[in-house]
Amino acid sequence: MNTEDKFETLSKGRLIVKNIIINPLINYLLPRKLLLHILKTNKSPLLEESIKDPGGWKSIHLSYENTAPESSVDKFVLHYGIFPMGLRNRKRMMTRILKELIHEYTEKGHVNIVGVGAGPGTNVIEAMAMAQRDNVTAYCLDLNDEAFAHGEMLKRRHGLEADRVKYIKGNAVDLDKHVKVTPHIIKLIGILEYLSDKEVADLLRFAHRALGAHGAVVTHSIYNKHGHERFMKHFLNLRLKYRSVSQISGMLEAAGFSIAHEEMEPLGIYSAIVGRK
Ligand SMILES: C[S@@+](CC[C@H](N)C(=O)[O-])C[C@H]1O[C@@H](n2cnc3c(N)ncnc32)[C@H](O)[C@@H]1O
Repeated sequence: MNTEDKFETLSKGRLIVKNIIINPLINYLLPRKLLLHILKTNKSPLLEESIKDPGGWKSIHLSYENTAPESSVDKFVLHYGIFPMGLRNRKRMMTRILKELIHEYTEKGHVNIVGVGAGPGTNVIEAMAMAQRDNVTAYCLDLNDEAFAHGEMLKRRHGLEADRVKYIKGNAVDLDKHVKVTPHIIKLIGILEYLSDKEVADLLRFAHRALGAHGAVVTHSIYNKHGHERFMKHFLNLRLKYRSVSQISGMLEAAGFSIAHEEMEPLGIYSAIVGRK
């Protein structure tokens, strides 16, 4: 583990409380109606957003920021919820991996990064700010252009000039129509779990064709390690496609990539996977 990653973990005590009390409560005992009532009466932007737009960029953004007011339900859910913790671990791991790849590729010239289902581009913006290299441009593709205004704010926050990250509204499955540059890195973070096997296979095949020589795909697997799947499905209507490390690595290999790196964050939900052309 890299010392710059300050990963979030669960103590043994919290793990026991989670398995014995919290999981049965949220998965089986609390009726959805009661949870919705708690939500209505306590104001939870996170849960409201998760229900309104399951898997949307805003709930992910709230999880990354983890800055809800002290007394709110969100403070508790964001801070102690296993899924928001896993998302923050994923971002720590991904931004470090992207930063290292930026360092490697910028040695040889200008670097293009394409992010698919990128939302506001949080991962790539933070990686570019950490990498401290000027010769990098990112292209962020997303179906939802509401995320882009937020991305403009993130660029300012991290001191990146506006033209270093460009936004494109479009569908991941039409990536070939939208990408007009030769990417060195294609970033598939928080997107494969929303796509079918065929869509993933097509996307990876296109990524392999589009990337320059020795280019990299940066992606991840997702594992229902802490039994959160049932709650996510029934309460939040979030039907993710859980694919293991070996499934994602196998799909990358089938598209022509060799696996260069696999790494699991300590909660065991997300594994980063890098495929090289
Ligand atoms: C869970 S968010 C992830 C955002 C960002 N990649 C991250 O990890 O912080 C998923 C994003 O994928 C976008 N998305 C979902 N399906 C898509 C598709 N078929 N094509 C492009 N974007 C898509 C959504 O609009 C949303 O912004």
